[in-house]
Amino acid sequence: MRSWVVRDLALGLCGAAMLLAGTGLRAQDGPKPYPIYTADHLAGTMETLGPNFAAAVRALEAGDYLAAKERLARAREQLATTITFWRQHERADGIGFVRTAVRGMDDLDAAMSVDAVDPETASGFAADVQATCNACHAIYREPDPDGGFRLKVEAVEPRESAP
Ligand code: HEC
Repeated sequence: MRSWVVRDLALGLCGAAMLLAGTGLRAQDGPKPYPIYTADHLAGTMETLGPNFAAAVRALEAGDYLAAKERLARAREQLATTITFWRQHERADGIGFVRTAVRGMDDLDAAMSVDAVDPETASGFAADVQATCNACHAIYREPDPDGGFRLKVEAVEPRESAP
C-alpha cells in the first residue's frame, strides 16, 4: 500500500511525460509505444542540464558547496529523466551512462554534504561524472552544422534484431 503511494508521488513529480512513457513501455503486446520522449526533449534537457552542471563545478571550485549542491540537484533531476529516451530506443549503453552519471552525482553530492569537505575528493567525483557525459557524447552526439550539437540519429535507429 505504502509503496504505491510513494510510487504515485514519484511519478507525479516526474511529470506527465514520464508517466505516459512508463505506461507505454508496459504495453508489451501492442504496437511500439509512440515516442513521447522525443529527440527534441532530449536536446532541451541537455541544454539546461549542461549549464547547471557547469555552474555546480564552478561553485565547487570556488568552495561554495551550498550553491554547488543546489545546481547539481537540478542537473541530476534533469539528467535522470533522459533515461526514458534510451529505454525507448533500447540502448543499454545509453541507460548505463545515465545511471553511472546520476550515481556519480550522488557521490559528489555526498562528498559536499560533510562538515569538512575534501575538495580533491569532490573534484574527483565531478571529473568522473564529466567523463561519463563525454563517453555518451562520443557515441551519440555530433556537431550540428547550424551550431551546437545534435543527436547522432543513425546511432539510435531501430535494430533489425536484438543482439
Ligand atoms: C546517455 C547519453 C548522454 C549522457 C549521459 C549525457 N549526454 Fe549530453 N547529450 C547527449 C546527446 C545525444 C546530445 C545531443 C542532443 C542534442 O543537442 O540534440 C547531448 C547534448 C548535450 C549538450 C549540448 C546541447 C546543445 O545542443 O547545445 C550539452 C551541454 C550536454 N549534452 C551536457 C551534458 C552533461 C553536462 C552531461 C553529464 C552530466 C551529459 N550531457 C550527459 C547525450 C548524453
